[in-house]
Amino acid sequence: MPYYSEDLIEKIRSSNDIVDVIGSVVRLKRSGSNYFGLCPFHNEKTGSFCVTPSKQIYYCFGCGAGGNVISFVMEYEHYGFQEAIKFLGERAGIALPEAEATEEEKRGAWHKKRILECLKTCAVFYYKRLYQPEGKIGLEYLKKRGLSDETIKNFGLGYSGKGYDQAVKYLKSKGYTDQEIIDAGLCTISEKHGMSDRFFNRVMFPIMDINSKVIGFGGRVMGDGEPKYLNSPETPVFDKSHNMYGLNVARRSNKGYRIVCEGYMDVISMHQAGFTEAVASLGTAFTSGHANLLRRYTKDVRLTYDSDNAGQKAAMRAIPICRSAGLHTKVIHMDPYKDPDEFIKGLGAEEFQKRIDEAENSFYFELSYAQKSYDMSDPEGRTAFQEEVAKKLASIEDELQRDNYIQAVAAKYSIREEVLRRAVALAAERGDFEEREGRYSLAGNRDSYEEGSKKKEEVDGLIKAESYLLTWMTDEEEVYKAASGYIEPSDFSEGITKRMAEAIFEGYRSGNFSPADILTHFTEEDLVKEASRIINTPLDGLESVSEKEKALTDLVIRIKTASLDRLKNADDGTDPLKKAKEIRKAMDELKKIRITL
Ligand code: UTP
Ligand code: MN
Repeated sequence: MPYYSEDLIEKIRSSNDIVDVIGSVVRLKRSGSNYFGLCPFHNEKTGSFCVTPSKQIYYCFGCGAGGNVISFVMEYEHYGFQEAIKFLGERAGIALPEAEATEEEKRGAWHKKRILECLKTCAVFYYKRLYQPEGKIGLEYLKKRGLSDETIKNFGLGYSGKGYDQAVKYLKSKGYTDQEIIDAGLCTISEKHGMSDRFFNRVMFPIMDINSKVIGFGGRVMGDGEPKYLNSPETPVFDKSHNMYGLNVARRSNKGYRIVCEGYMDVISMHQAGFTEAVASLGTAFTSGHANLLRRYTKDVRLTYDSDNAGQKAAMRAIPICRSAGLHTKVIHMDPYKDPDEFIKGLGAEEFQKRIDEAENSFYFELSYAQKSYDMSDPEGRTAFQEEVAKKLASIEDELQRDNYIQAVAAKYSIREEVLRRAVALAAERGDFEEREGRYSLAGNRDSYEEGSKKKEEVDGLIKAESYLLTWMTDEEEVYKAASGYIEPSDFSEGITKRMAEAIFEGYRSGNFSPADILTHFTEEDLVKEASRIINTPLDGLESVSEKEKALTDLVIRIKTASLDRLKNADDGTDPLKKAKEIRKAMDELKKIRITL
């Protein structure tokens, strides 16, 4: 990874106007000195998403998302910091320093680039075919399956033609070398025929990576034939277990979950019906690579695998993979239909949404799947099933959660709760479960809890006061000038407000203050959010100068008092008596101040 200097980062940030960048993906309306729109980070009907050009920051009053243009790109595109810088640098036409690459690395990078271009060229070739006389049968097939021209275009679907080397010939005519075409996975080679097209007489589904670059294809026979789908082989640019079909679109969905299904057509049907949060694994089983990829976008996965045996089995395999990647997982039921494509055709989008909402907890899904292999009318069978249930319950790490499940499962399967509880304890004793660590416990008693919460209120109040002052100083230099006569960054609470105060004071002192720049001091997503919330703490209702002066004085006194309190309690080796006297004096002085603006 190349290293980007702070100057360069600042240059890139300030060359990308936040209203332009956000405005290209969110419809913004001007209101006073701000812009408002529908928040792209949560689902809403009224615009609580606010972009402030003067500060070059955004903030959502609904969900608390916030930051500068860099953090917006990170959050919206799900980029890391470096990726976001690269993206914005390119957008503003600012050259970025490249890491020194060896000759071999350079050749490899060039080759990959050519493969990607070759695939793109081929996808366009297939797409155009669809609307030429030769491709009519492909277009008719797709139309018959209910796809609109718009959907066909969005997914770049195509038709591969009947000849045996049309694509190869075309690609060669466009300057691609044999090796590039071979490495793109677009042809097969035989002694007799040389290079022939891998795909012919199939409707084509380009597979794209998260940046919408074509990395491979799936091609379906129109009608019966083997194989039903022919896929590109893995190539230097196509890694099946680290890419998912549809994720280039689904990544931007603002639904809190993602739908994982089995097929290309399922993804397309769902997107066409408005479920743009759907993705599929690529003609392979779901892997931990897929789970980790999804985790960048959501913690909540809903599986909609085919309702036939193979599909249910695949779901059973996917669940523990999701679980160990830390994803909450549910299963969407589609009976009486086979897959989402058929379901939506049969019952429509509204019914499908209901099924999404009613998705079954994956733990229950596993239990009912297990139940199928036991004869529940036979006491022996019932017992064996219940033992399996107890074993599964014993493997739940969290004690509270385990207890809740024991109650629910007992009721669901009409097992006496004490009996089930004993069976779970027995399974646990026998070690019939995976090792568990870190049991949940309710620590502390009620008294200390209440004391704790009172203290928390005080702390929250102080942080709020600090946030008001920081917002205000950011908005008005006058306020900074007045307040800085009494207060220093070291007077702020340890943590984010202090770090922000340091950045703001430093910004004003150096003479080039910019609020958005302050946010670049924070690279972790949570802190950026927190920081932008802090400098967006609105201080309303202050009309006259005297009201403002009074408010400012109160804020300064509040913050400084807390600071002196901390000093009093700090064990810093100074003579406590002397210190107490000094602090008392400082407190008395403080009470007398009257800040003027
Ligand atoms: P399905 O057989 O369930 O097909 O395979 P489908 O998605 O419902 O497709 P249609 O509706 O019949 O057109 C599910 C997925 O498994 C992979 C493909 O990714 C497919 O979308 N698959 C299936 C293959 O890669 N090759 C095959 O021969 C069959
Ligand atoms: Mn199908």
